[in-house]
Formats: sequence, C-alpha cells, structure tokens
Amino acid sequence: MKVKLPSSRRARPASSSRSSTPRGTGKTRKMLINGSWVPAASGETFPTYNPATGQAICQVASGGRADIHAAVRAAREAFENGPWRRMTPSERGKCLWRLADLLEKHADEFAALESLDNGKPQSVARVADVPLAVDLFRYMAGWATKILGHTIPLSVPYAPGARFHAYTLREPIGVVGQIIPWNFPLLMAAWKLGPALAAGCAVVLKPAEQTPLTAIRLGELIQEAGIPDGVVNIVTGFGETAGAALASHPGIDKIAFTGSTEVGKIIVRAAANDLKKVSLELGGKSPNIICDDADLETAIPGAANAIFFNHGQCCCAGSRLYVQKRHFDKVVEGVAAAAKKIKVGPGHAADTEMGPLVSEEQLSRVLGFLRSGQVEGAETVVGGSRHGDSGYFVKPTVLTNTKPGMKVMDEEIFGPVVCAIPFKDINDVLPVEKANSYGLAAAVWTRDVGRAHRIAAELRAGTVWVNCYNIFDAALPFGGYKQSGWGREMGQEALELYTETKAVCVNI
Ligand code: NAI
Ligand code: MG
Repeated sequence: MKVKLPSSRRARPASSSRSSTPRGTGKTRKMLINGSWVPAASGETFPTYNPATGQAICQVASGGRADIHAAVRAAREAFENGPWRRMTPSERGKCLWRLADLLEKHADEFAALESLDNGKPQSVARVADVPLAVDLFRYMAGWATKILGHTIPLSVPYAPGARFHAYTLREPIGVVGQIIPWNFPLLMAAWKLGPALAAGCAVVLKPAEQTPLTAIRLGELIQEAGIPDGVVNIVTGFGETAGAALASHPGIDKIAFTGSTEVGKIIVRAAANDLKKVSLELGGKSPNIICDDADLETAIPGAANAIFFNHGQCCCAGSRLYVQKRHFDKVVEGVAAAAKKIKVGPGHAADTEMGPLVSEEQLSRVLGFLRSGQVEGAETVVGGSRHGDSGYFVKPTVLTNTKPGMKVMDEEIFGPVVCAIPFKDINDVLPVEKANSYGLAAAVWTRDVGRAHRIAAELRAGTVWVNCYNIFDAALPFGGYKQSGWGREMGQEALELYTETKAVCVNI
C-alpha cells in the first residue's frame, strides 16, 4: 500500500495513535460534480474525525443547496443527453466490473481509510467491508445485461377480434438521490450505486458527514473506471443541509436512504411534495432466538458476533437475545466471557477486535442508553461503561433483567449492548416480536429443521438467519418489514428500486 504523508500530518507527534496516513486524507477533500472535483459553492468545509482519538483527520467540502442543485443538474444532463444513455448494457456492465477490479486493487488502502474515518478495525474492513463492496459491483455488473421485460398475451374483452402485441420494458428510473450512513460507509455506497448504475440511472450520492472519505476516494475510481462525467456526483455535507436539499429536490426522480427511522420519516415527508419514489433501509431491534436444542458451541459465539460485530453499529444487530430457560445462564455466561475477551483498541492496531464508536454523539447516545438501563433496573453482567477516557470506546455489554417498556429493550441502541431475555416457550416470544415496531432481521438457533422453518415463517422480518448471523451476500435481498424500511437492497430485488416498468401495447 502506498502511503503518502501530507505535510500537515508530518508535524504530528510520534505519539499519534495512527500508524499510517492513507491516501485521500491530506488536503481539503472536494466534491465530485459533473466530473470535476470542486469546493462547496459557499467555500465552507467541515472536519472529519478519527474516532479513536477524537482528532480531525482533514477538512471536507461542506455541500449545501447550491451544490446539490448543481449536482442534480449534472446528473439530469448525463441521464438525458450523455453517453451513459447510449452505452450498451454490456458496456455499462464493463464499467461496473472495472470499478470492482480497481477497488480490489486498492483494497488495503480502502480498508485503512475506512478504519481511520469510521473507527472499525482495519483487519475487519479488509475482510468484510471492502470485499463485500467489490463483490456487489461485480454482481451488479452481471445484472446490467439481464434487466428484462415480458411479452404479455392480451384478452381485451371490449375489442373482440382485435389482436395486440404487448410487452413490458424495464427502464432506468432516472436521476436518483442516495443518502447513506456512517456504519459501513464504503459498503453502503456500493449497495446504493451498484444497482442504480446497472439499471442506467444517474446519481447524486451524499455520504454521512462522519465518514465521507472512502466515498470520495471511490469517486476517483469511478472516474478511472470510465463511468462518464455527471453519472455519479458525490456531494459531501450535513444531513440537515445537503441531505435535506437532496431529498426535497424537484429534479430527483427517486430518493434512496439508509439511516435512522426518524430521518427516514423526514425523507418521506420531503419526497411527498412531488411524490418522488422512495426506498428506505432503517433501524432495527432484531431478535436472536436460541432454542433449547441449539448447538451452543456455535450459538454462543454466534450470539456474541450478532451484537458485537461492527461495535453493534449494525441496523440488523441481534440486540434482543432470547434464550430458552434451560440454557439461559450458560449462554449469558458464554456471551459475557466473549465480551470480556474482545480486544478493544484503535482500528489500525493489528490485534484490535473492536474499535471506537463512530462519533462523540454516538458515544453519548450509547452511554445514555446504558445509564437508562441501570436506572430502569437492568442488571449489567459485563461492560456497561466507557472504555478508557479518550476516543469513543464503549465496553461490550451484556444486560439481563430487561423488560418490554424499558428503553434498552424497545429502542435501537446502535452500540455493543445486548439484552438477554429468558423464555419458556417460543409462543411467548413470537407475539412480543410481532409487536416489535421494527422488522429488519431475526435469527433462530435450533437443531430441529422443522422448528427452524416454522419459526422463520412466523417472524415478520426481512431476513431470518438459521444457525448463523450477519451473513450477507450481494445476491441475497436485504431490507425491512414494518418501520425498518421500504424495498430491498442487493439481489435482483434491488433493480426494482431503480427501474420503472413500461407497458407497450401494439395493435397488430
Ligand atoms: P441519521 O439518520 O441522522 O444519518 C444518516 C444519513 O442521513 C446521513 O448521511 C445524514 O447526513 C443524513 N441525514 C440526517 N438528517 C437528514 C435530513 N433531515 N434530511 C436528509 N438527510 C439527512 O443517523 P445518525 O444521526 O447518524 O444516527 C442516529 C441513529 O440512527 C443511530 O443511533 C442508529 O440508531 C440509527 N442509524 C441507523 C442506520 C442503519 O443502517 N439503518 C445507520 C446509521 C444510523
Ligand atoms: Mg444525524
């Protein structure tokens, strides 16, 4: 990996917790609009921070309404009149494949940059975030040539004797606004861009203000991959300014959002003005159910991974751990032991297993949940507090004695905090979970195949894992029931978010 030390960093003391400075952090990072790297129209910038130290990494252009407007105009022009529209599906697929190859070539650099900006262990970004993003672009490259319509035999009752040839076309939905969060910055950019580009759309992407760096660097690779100017525009900035301007912009045909349920509702209201299409991937409070016949050797580490992966900053985190009574103590002990063993530290250190939370705001939000759990009577088996006194680290935490009605049980914490709940009969769990306002993911651990399928059928969640957790694949659709969202990302379903169906009816 090439490491280029920017001048402002060279003066840093040797005690800096960062071992290297990845490319893409040195200067003030600009935005990609119409194929050019530009500052914000206002000239404003904002810092992005290293959550392991709380220190600023670099400045980033602070996009606002004027920049969003310029980006939407560029995307519209690229969509209506640019070479993108005239490319064959095969050529579009090749662009996506080239992008995947470039990302793979720079995988170490992206893992380091993601770790620096988001806090996650570099080793995890290298084996999870980056390869998943590469694979997503390859998978969607294949779809570019396979977006098909149907031929449809008609039987029009009021036109006896007439004959028609009817068929459907699936056409790109147009200009798309995409707003993504900070928990998997590069991967969320890939989930959003991959299907939109395969379908032939043009995009304005707004990364999260906490973690803009890998999206910006991806923009450089998008250019290198030969995706024409204006097809992908990347506007960095805050949610209330750049994000809100994008969600309400009349030049956008569709808005795709991943983030909090609260902001999801704001997006829906903003999109209602001109009824633009909306897809949403929102929060969760996902049940992870260990039955009395489960293989505890896999279920216990599985339950720990379900909540502690990515420091619990996963929309599908297994944050409600239901354990059938016979095994409750053993599972709680096992998950607590796993929590104690997790090596918490800065993302760049080779032995780090859990990094800091993404921001000071997220740290105080999670600590607030821990306090409320203590006040409301939850028992802290392990963890329960901040780790260290610099950076945004929280100890992996297991709570027991939690009940519906407590904030820690009902609300998404988005930190490494699990509520363990004993149950006698699965029929005591299922009604509680039916009342869960979220429905993103769920898991069941059992050796009984019939029981696994019965429970999977009962759970109202977009993903049900059986004897595993956090298994993602570009081919497997992901998204939520209920207040966890609208639509599905990845898989063939994702193309439906970015295409319109046109019915053509020919009198022959
Ligand atoms: P957020 O929903 O505020 O941020 C997500 C994205 O939305 C960011 O790009 C942000 O700039 C943008 N945004 C914020 N306000 C906006 C607005 N008014 N209009 C348009 N775009 C806007 O999430 P935040 O505040 O960073 O985290 C709060 C909670 O949200 C977390 O504790 C967690 O519970 C949940 N969350 C869920 C995620 C998921 O993957 N479903 C990801 C991130 C957060
Ligand atoms: Mg926010």
